[in-house]
Amino acid sequence: MRTLIRGRFALPVALVGVVGLVGLVAFTPSAAQAGPAPVATAPTATTAAPTAKAPAGAAAHPTATAASTASPAAAGTSVTGSPLTSSHGITYYEPAGSLIAPGQALYAASCASCHGVDAAGSARAPNLQGLGAGTVDFWVSTGRMPLANSSVQATRKPPRFNRLQTLEIAAFVQSRTPGLGIGIPVVNLSQASLAAGNSLFTLNCAACHTITGAGDELAYGAYAPSLHLATATQVVEAIRSGPGNMPHFSEGNITNSEARDIAAYVTEVIQHPVDRGGFGLGGIGPVGEGFVALLFGVGVLMLVAFWIGERS
Ligand code: HEC
Ligand code: HEC
Repeated sequence: MRTLIRGRFALPVALVGVVGLVGLVAFTPSAAQAGPAPVATAPTATTAAPTAKAPAGAAAHPTATAASTASPAAAGTSVTGSPLTSSHGITYYEPAGSLIAPGQALYAASCASCHGVDAAGSARAPNLQGLGAGTVDFWVSTGRMPLANSSVQATRKPPRFNRLQTLEIAAFVQSRTPGLGIGIPVVNLSQASLAAGNSLFTLNCAACHTITGAGDELAYGAYAPSLHLATATQVVEAIRSGPGNMPHFSEGNITNSEARDIAAYVTEVIQHPVDRGGFGLGGIGPVGEGFVALLFGVGVLMLVAFWIGERS
């Protein structure tokens, strides 16, 4: 009797065990390395070197890292220009004067038809003078500008210009009104508090962008876009300039240290959710957990079936 049971049980139990173990081995390490599935939409890999707080979208414009993450000194001398103000990890730059001439040519070709040769605006598009290089950088680096057709709301799309060209255009527009508007923020996230960023985001941003940063419809056909592609620089630019229907927050409303914390929360937590779902069996993810379920679930079912068969 006992040997009979053992004989009958041995094969199915071994089979299920092998399937389960093969599944665990096959999926666990690779799933853990590949990074969380939701991040697939963002071009940046989570496996980047620890120093590279690479903004999502950096791949689209390779030198973006220089302005967003490199040490302020390096970015300042090589690309961005001279610092205007600096506090709590955010330095606002005015683009270097050498960028103005090439920027004027790019502007004339791609922007002047709508915004006017001197960026003073026209019937087709608003005045850009006085907005500052940071505002121009936001609209061009997020691909909103140049506008393809006058839709209800300019949307994020792959940027037309690389990082240097974008800074050149910003430099030209800034040169019309030196010293006015917001500079281009270079954000150092190393001292940022994700906990503070979490509560500040919940308080100031989640109402429109939702708590997960997925974005939502607003009144009058407008919408608050997803925050899954914005870089730290773009987050601070949006906070300070208030694009479209978004309110702008001055340093009296959101300090630089708070803006830095929010930028860190958006780029590190919202864009890289670590939880892969499932019940947290060591965080091996749903596929691995599925095999565990198969291992135990099917095994138990078989035991029950054999037990019933044995009784009758
Ligand atoms: C086809 C016409 C068109 C072209 C070309 C165009 N823009 Fe615009 N731009 C607009 C319109 C219309 C708006 C207002 C859109 C909105 O508020 O959503 C705008 C808004 C902007 C804003 C925000 C202004 C504000 O008050 O916040 C900036 C900055 C800007 N454009 C820069 C540029 C730059 C730089 C270029 C060239 C690379 C460019 N635009 C090309 C039509 C255009
Ligand atoms: C009243 C609603 C509202 C609030 C509050 C708000 N936003 Fe926005 N936000 C918008 C809208 C609308 C846009 C799109 C503007 C446009 O393209 O014309 C936007 C755009 C953005 C973008 C650009 C995203 C991209 O990739 O193109 C960022 C980044 C952003 N917001 C960050 C924030 C942060 C951070 C906060 C909180 C400090 C915040 N927003 C609060 C409505 C809001």
